[in-house]
Amino acid sequence: MSGIQFSFKLNGRTVEVAVSPGTLLVDLLRENFGLTGTKAGCRQGECGACTVLVDGEAYNSCLIPALKVQGREVTTIEGLQNADGSLDPLQEAFMDVGAAQCGFCTPGMIMNAKALLSRNPNPDDKEIRKALSGVLCRCTGYRKIVQAVKNVASNGRS
Ligand code: FES
Ligand code: FES
Repeated sequence: MSGIQFSFKLNGRTVEVAVSPGTLLVDLLRENFGLTGTKAGCRQGECGACTVLVDGEAYNSCLIPALKVQGREVTTIEGLQNADGSLDPLQEAFMDVGAAQCGFCTPGMIMNAKALLSRNPNPDDKEIRKALSGVLCRCTGYRKIVQAVKNVASNGRS
């Protein structure tokens, strides 16, 4: 392996990788690990499509040098799936209410919603909209997205 070697936890398992110092987390996830659910949109912190959890908090992975996650825990949209193959309640809810159209923003929406529900299990509409405000959706008008998050919160399934 060439580059700087480091390890971190990715979707529940410890991984070791070598990167050049300028590598961004979004590229590490997509190119080294094939986790293409994390989208590379604007690459400027504007669209939120690249959101992942780092130690449970939502971050734009296009703004984080990969080396910054050394020793930390990173969760991508793929990591929300349970070991038995079942989906996370948020993923189910997005499908149930039709909260995704083209789907480009959906991983970013869900990862931000996941972080919100872990710190506030029963958010109101305003809190949900605020938590998702960093993710742009060109298709849905946001109403169904907010509804999906609300459904999970009110079911206490987060
Ligand atoms: S790709 Fe990261 S915020 Fe748009
Ligand atoms: S579903 Fe297309 S951008 Fe949100």
